[in-house]
Amino acid sequence: MRTDLDNIVTQLRTSMNSDAPKLGYAVIGTGMMGREHIRAVHQLNQARIVGVFDTNTQSVEKALQEFAGTEHDPPKAYKTIAEINQYAEVDAVLICTPNFTHREIFDAVKISGKAVLLEKPMATTLEDAFYLAKASLSYPAPIQLGMQYRYKSQYQLALNSLTKGELGDVKMVSLSEYRPAFLPKINEWNKFSRYSGGTLVEKCCHYFDLMNRIANSQPIRVYASGGKAVNFKDFTFDGQAADIDDHALVIVDYENGVKGQFTLNMFSEELYETLVVSGNKGTLRAEEEASFKSRRGSKSKIKVEVNGHDAYDGIDCTFPQDIELGGHYGSTLFEHDRFSARVNGATGDGASCTEGLWAIITAWMAQESIKTGAVVDVRSTLEHLGINPYSQDLLPNTTY
Ligand SMILES: NC(=O)c1ccc[n+]([C@@H]2O[C@H](COP(=O)([O-])OP(=O)(O)OC[C@H]3O[C@@H](n4cnc5c(N)ncnc54)[C@H](O)[C@@H]3O)[C@@H](O)[C@H]2O)c1
Repeated sequence: MRTDLDNIVTQLRTSMNSDAPKLGYAVIGTGMMGREHIRAVHQLNQARIVGVFDTNTQSVEKALQEFAGTEHDPPKAYKTIAEINQYAEVDAVLICTPNFTHREIFDAVKISGKAVLLEKPMATTLEDAFYLAKASLSYPAPIQLGMQYRYKSQYQLALNSLTKGELGDVKMVSLSEYRPAFLPKINEWNKFSRYSGGTLVEKCCHYFDLMNRIANSQPIRVYASGGKAVNFKDFTFDGQAADIDDHALVIVDYENGVKGQFTLNMFSEELYETLVVSGNKGTLRAEEEASFKSRRGSKSKIKVEVNGHDAYDGIDCTFPQDIELGGHYGSTLFEHDRFSARVNGATGDGASCTEGLWAIITAWMAQESIKTGAVVDVRSTLEHLGINPYSQDLLPNTTY
């Protein structure tokens, strides 16, 4: 497993600063995440940011500051989205605006047929997620979703181990995230379910993406309990009271018999994530600790309790510091590495719209269960909503 980690790091370093002609990216939405993408693109040096667009002038100014004092030419500041579609220098568009705008922004750029990196969650409603997943099937260029947690060190290694079949047949998946409250945002969109899709869709689509991939199946039943215990209880913006949950316990039954569980706690001082996967040959445990209070990287560990495994007693799998600091503990760098490869015509394991759709379906069913207090039957609920994601082309690709 140490060799796997070395290979992952070496591969990323080899593709950094590649001699291939630099791709041109336009960024729509240059808030916190848009600027993280700009820094990751600069660090990888496989592409140039040729333009930015944001409806907030301060966000544009902050984006331009990312270029000051660097060797990177400042980008154009576009006046409209339509302008982006006209420039041949734009090979791909990074959509980093709030969740509720994703569908309309995709619709505004789709005429260009340019490659798209669309931030997670792809949409705030099942209807919009289904629309985007269907649109991706006939779109002439790659659309990759910003679900980069799959590239955190411990999850890359866990997914490699599972692909190699080291645990045998997977039976149980357990994930947890303990972290501080949602951060401030422009117009505080993440405090309102109608703009974010709700906490489990907005934040936790990352974990349901991982859970679905590890289970390698579709959810059939979801039960969840959760609510708002501590955060933003008296928070209002524009006269509206915040309505997002800050904790949840979720149980997912999969079609193939795998059992999943997820714990969320957003009133923790520090960040702490765990993954435990059990198969009929052994158990894998991975964890990460980090702090929002410093620019320190995270610390990650993984253990594979399978007889004779080199990580039986656990290994430290923290990325080297330059990678670790490259956005979401290095995962954003890997996401961009995968994205540029896809824009250049390669296939890869970047999150697809169909995977994004199933992550949202799982999260949405959990939110529905919290609302109703009942177990949610996924198939009949989708049928009732007139959404049929069961055609072969909308089921996630499970081989990379
Ligand atoms: N992948 C991850 O781990 C991760 C982490 C954080 C945020 N995100 C996602 O990134 C997206 C942006 O989040 P953020 O944290 O940067 O939020 P933010 O509020 O910091 O930034 C959003 C930016 O979009 C701009 N904007 C809003 N509507 C717009 C429009 N119609 N056209 C152009 N610009 C518009 C705002 O002015 C703001 O500058 C969200 O979808 C969020 O869920 C992903």
